[in-house]
Amino acid sequence: MSEWVRAAAVADIRVGGARSFAWRDKRIALFRTDGAVFACDNRCPHQGYALVRGDVRDGQLTCAWHNWKFDLRTGTCRHGGENVRTYPVRVAGGQVYIDVADPPAEVIRPELFASLAAAMEDLDVGRVARDALRLQRIGTPLAEVIREGVRYAAPRAEDGWDHSLATLTDCLAMSGFFAESLRALPVIQGLSVAAQDQVRRPARRRPDPVDPVAAFGSAGEALRAFPVLVEEERQDEAEALLRGLIAERVPPASLRHAILTAATDHFLAYGHSVIFVQKAFELLGRIGWQEADAVLSPLVPQMVLGTRYDRLPYMRRFLRAWQEAGPDLTALAGQAGARGAPRGRGRARRGDPAGRGSGPGGTGFDEARYRRALTDGSPADAAAALAAALEAGGPVTAIIDATARAAAERLARFDIDMDLDDSNDFGWLDVTHTLTYIDALRWAWSADPSPQVLRGLVHAAWFVQWTGQFDERRAPAGRAAGGAARAGWSRPGTRRAGAPELREAIARRDPEAAVALVTGYSGPRAELERSLVQAAAEDHSAAPIMVAHVIKTAHAAVSESRALGEGPASAEPLAAAARFLASPKRERFVVQSVLDAMTTLRGVPRPESERIRNAGAAGS
Ligand code: FES
Repeated sequence: MSEWVRAAAVADIRVGGARSFAWRDKRIALFRTDGAVFACDNRCPHQGYALVRGDVRDGQLTCAWHNWKFDLRTGTCRHGGENVRTYPVRVAGGQVYIDVADPPAEVIRPELFASLAAAMEDLDVGRVARDALRLQRIGTPLAEVIREGVRYAAPRAEDGWDHSLATLTDCLAMSGFFAESLRALPVIQGLSVAAQDQVRRPARRRPDPVDPVAAFGSAGEALRAFPVLVEEERQDEAEALLRGLIAERVPPASLRHAILTAATDHFLAYGHSVIFVQKAFELLGRIGWQEADAVLSPLVPQMVLGTRYDRLPYMRRFLRAWQEAGPDLTALAGQAGARGAPRGRGRARRGDPAGRGSGPGGTGFDEARYRRALTDGSPADAAAALAAALEAGGPVTAIIDATARAAAERLARFDIDMDLDDSNDFGWLDVTHTLTYIDALRWAWSADPSPQVLRGLVHAAWFVQWTGQFDERRAPAGRAAGGAARAGWSRPGTRRAGAPELREAIARRDPEAAVALVTGYSGPRAELERSLVQAAAEDHSAAPIMVAHVIKTAHAAVSESRALGEGPASAEPLAAAARFLASPKRERFVVQSVLDAMTTLRGVPRPESERIRNAGAAGS
């Protein structure tokens, strides 16, 4: 509906001149040429400077500040990156009238989405921010804005699911931690990471869906065939089948079970496969199942192409011990599903690393001894501890809790100097995944308490134990008293302050202060969570991969903290993530790549890297 208002007398604007006009929150520039009057937004879409000071020649407006050029009749940008809004003008009785009515949101929204996609393709973060905010201003849910980012990124992800999609997922969840006025900030952070990762990539070729019943006789047989195809690395067949199952509207829970079975068959891609399955289903829960084909099918190449760590020397010693312990995961998963309460109380058996049956917290196993086996024990200790905890009847969620606490301790002990050392190719991201992986596994177990997911817990125990290779080594009394204790882990209350100080400590890259602020914090937990999440969303890291992991780790830390309940242990994941966020981190790896290349070409491994690579095989 039109809304014509008088803006000026024609005589008030000289030919070739301009003047501004304000109507409610609108700032409008009027330009008079030889034969007409034109009106457009006075704020330049580039940086908001006044267009009324621009220059008009042959119907083209040039902004005085950075020379963006616009067609005054249509607002089309001729040089620069974004159109300017124009307004209908009518001259009558010597007066200039402007129709200031806003077009309906349904009309503007598709244009803004198209503009947003173009901005991502141009890697123009400023325009991404403006378009996202404009979409929010006309009442577009942020989930729909993220959905546009997913539609941009998912087809371009050349090896399937990746950090761009994971970051979009986490950033949407993070927006809930911000006040309304800043709620779009993490969403825009996610869009910018997705754009940086995927910019100008062609769409990945995908196989057409196959009819699962025609190919396998029934949907059930097809679901069972899916993990086999992944295992045999028959990528096209697996993806075509998954797409067919989605097209046939197979229930999401059945699809999830089939995908989780494939994702936990091996310790795939350093745990990323399970993490990405979690993110994919969480994402669909927010942006709608109608995107299932776009969101789920890229999981297939990611799983098929992912490194199978359980086949590498790293896990050999652990897996040998696990096989010797020989727990029956099928039976254990069945028992875990059937029982509501833990069983097996009593004294720990001599020599039992998990303190089987001692269960001080009523969990059926000695949680502290289990954690110690993971943080300080050998691969065999960790395998035996997990087997004992499971066989003692400890609820799987309690074992996941303990594994999460051990993972948090791993982050607390990590040798920050190692990350900055170009002479090795290990760093923070080798350790943060212990926390994000266990969080994904917790989600998987809650959604699908099956033997397949229990296998993922086996991988988690190895993962936490193995990453002890990256602990600080300067602790005088051994690793147990290392980074965690020095950072204030065991000394809560050493530094009392409000949650905002945490953001400041993270921003100035002070890990010791950040950990002390979390462990000493005594205010409402929600404020601490918000502070951590906001610090992650505002992080200044330059490399998209680092931004993605900062966000992913903060998100997992909040999730794990909540899962651990109200007690002091729930601060541990937050403190661990705070230490990671606040640490100075290596973001460019050129020097390391050169050293790697020289080593590779000479055929002589560098001692530090080789020591760590071989740790799993040789034992440590
Ligand atoms: S503000 Fe107009 S071109 Fe920069």
